[in-house]
Amino acid sequence: MAVTAEARLDARKLRADFPIFEQEIHGKPLAYLDSAASSQKPRRVLDAMTTFYETSYANIHRGVYDLGERATEAYEGAREKVRAFINADSTREVVFTRNVTAALNLVAYAWGLDNLGRGDVVLVTEMEHHSNFVPWQYIAGRTGAEFKVIPVDDQGELRLEELDRLAAEGRTKVVGATYVSNSLGTVNPIDQLTAWAHEQGAIMVVDAAQAVPHRPVDVQALGADFLGFTGHKMCGPTGIGVLWGRRELLGAMSPFELGGHMIRKVTVEETTWNELPHKFEAGTAPIAEAVGLGAAIDYVSEVGLEALEGYEHELLDYALPRLAELPGVRLFGPPAERRAGIVSFEVGGVHPHDVAQILDWEGVAVRAGHHCNQPLMRRLGVPATTRASFYLYTVPEEIDRLIDGLQKVRKTFA
Ligand SMILES: Cc1ncc(COP(=O)(O)O)c(C=O)c1O
Repeated sequence: MAVTAEARLDARKLRADFPIFEQEIHGKPLAYLDSAASSQKPRRVLDAMTTFYETSYANIHRGVYDLGERATEAYEGAREKVRAFINADSTREVVFTRNVTAALNLVAYAWGLDNLGRGDVVLVTEMEHHSNFVPWQYIAGRTGAEFKVIPVDDQGELRLEELDRLAAEGRTKVVGATYVSNSLGTVNPIDQLTAWAHEQGAIMVVDAAQAVPHRPVDVQALGADFLGFTGHKMCGPTGIGVLWGRRELLGAMSPFELGGHMIRKVTVEETTWNELPHKFEAGTAPIAEAVGLGAAIDYVSEVGLEALEGYEHELLDYALPRLAELPGVRLFGPPAERRAGIVSFEVGGVHPHDVAQILDWEGVAVRAGHHCNQPLMRRLGVPATTRASFYLYTVPEEIDRLIDGLQKVRKTFA
């Protein structure tokens, strides 16, 4: 099969690292095609967290005893791994958050409340996940700024020709864009959008939740101002995400959450803030989760982000024509060359939840719903889609089983 013959990444071998694939679902091997929602975890990540809890666990940044120092080193070591992974200039620019949603809320609140007002425009794409849509819509409303969207065309790509018209309608202060669409796999031209945002005097906020786990991302080369991603989509645990931001912007921002650790000095009269990145990390940190994320970064780095991106493309080239051949199946999204390993489709006359249910009986896990993209669904004229998404452990047989399952769906509802 072309996919495996050409692969520089051995998905079959990697798959053995993931204990979850040792089980059967409804008596069939698990075909997990929902990695855009969350990825599975290799044993190495699970072991790193267990070992940390068993040997080095204590609260961090406070204890002067050995265990506390070791735990602090593990946590700060994970921050350095993140820094190197996205090529940030300094660990001061790397803030640990609960997930990417928390990272984007941090920027919307802490930057937005102090920097937006009447006459300003907040611009996000029509394909944003609600995480980079709703916070901006809300903060725009709170500050009197206008909230607008960069429209999407029928293929699910940004209509960049609309940018100048939008710019003429007010002072654009923020541009928010997802690097890769979680519903359609569309890869957005972030460098072009960033250059345009900066010409307007706006900041560029990138939701890289579907990019950082799947392709090399270099924040310095990208040139944006803020970028967030989430650990659980890249072989890491839940409960940890990252906000990268330019040091001068983070430094000038008010804190978002207040309490322990984020302070320098507290008196009855006033409180001053800790240095970056601690100013934005109130309360006990997700310590073991950071260790897990560090192990996940080691894992995907060893696989190689370029190999991973290339492999997912091969899977896409394998899946798209087969899906397109199926009678009654309508595919959404751009051509393979401008998309990542995500395919959304509808099966004519069958609700996506029914599609997903029948596929589940075949052991095939896909997602059905609006994928936290309600404005995009409305633009596409559907309430929901069925979505299959790939990762480094996806094998072509899983795509074959998806296709077989969809044939059963057609027969069931014929
Ligand atoms: C593009 C995008 N942004 C944001 C999110 C939200 O991620 P989390 O729930 O980890 O904050 C997701 C995940 O569903 C996503 O795909």
